[in-house]
Amino acid sequence: MTRSVLTVCDLSSSEIGQVLDRAREAKQDRRRRGTELEGLTALLIFQKPSLRTRVSFELAVSNLGGRPLYLSPPEVGLGERETPEDVGGVAGRYCDLIICRTFDQSNLERLAASSGVPVVNALSDWEHPCQALADVLTIREHGGTTGRTLTYVGDGNNVARSLAIAAAGEGMDVRISSPSGYELDSASVTEASNRAAASGGSVSLVSDPDVAVSRADVVYTDTWTSMGQELEAKQRLEDFTGYQVDVDLVGKASPDASVMHCLPAHRGEEISDDVLDGPRSVVLDQAENRLHAQQALLAWLFA
Ligand code: CP
Repeated sequence: MTRSVLTVCDLSSSEIGQVLDRAREAKQDRRRRGTELEGLTALLIFQKPSLRTRVSFELAVSNLGGRPLYLSPPEVGLGERETPEDVGGVAGRYCDLIICRTFDQSNLERLAASSGVPVVNALSDWEHPCQALADVLTIREHGGTTGRTLTYVGDGNNVARSLAIAAAGEGMDVRISSPSGYELDSASVTEASNRAAASGGSVSLVSDPDVAVSRADVVYTDTWTSMGQELEAKQRLEDFTGYQVDVDLVGKASPDASVMHCLPAHRGEEISDDVLDGPRSVVLDQAENRLHAQQALLAWLFA
């Protein structure tokens, strides 16, 4: 059966657990190579720039015996040069897997429907599921997930959505702190709450960041202005005043709290330099774990 991962909801909480168990094992023996993609080709269609996602997916495919082929933003023309259906139909004749970074979530759905091969979301305007897998793996490594508190401070965006749903399914108490007008949508809060109800966790929206961060075990933030929102940057800087993850805010969290950011960071906006570079920061572990989590996901999909 062709199985795509277009959102984190395409994986049950139990399946996320299986993938992350596999990632932890593979990480312990970094030289070990898999054969799950032996003889297979993965097409990476990227409509936006990337460091972490591109490199980690190319390595993951190679490490599993497959061949990655990268198409850069100007080469793709997804929805401009050709419809997603035409791209998907052609790609499905050449390749065994599509890994796509795009603006519009519907492009992923159209590629999945037309290609006949698994499609993996490498970031869309709606979700960043592979980032969430790496994030939960990182939290597991830094004190664990179940019964601990994760506070996300900032925009209720794609990263927040995937993270909240995945972490709630691991039994975490998830608090999301956003200014008015930037909260996570109610359907995603409901999905995360349903997963939390099954795992013993909880989900709450707490607008005051000082209250939200109080005694938290993990403090997470992401850029206030994502790719494609550049015209809103000035307004967003005003609207997010008071939501910077700085030394004062982190001082309200648990004394051994981890600080997370998916990167790239807008230093001095959503996070201060001294916190991003400070002793609580686990952002490089997060970045490294993109490789281990995605390699485990691909191995699991093709096992
Ligand atoms: N976190 C993340 O997706 O990074 P890139 O944009 O560099 O891929």
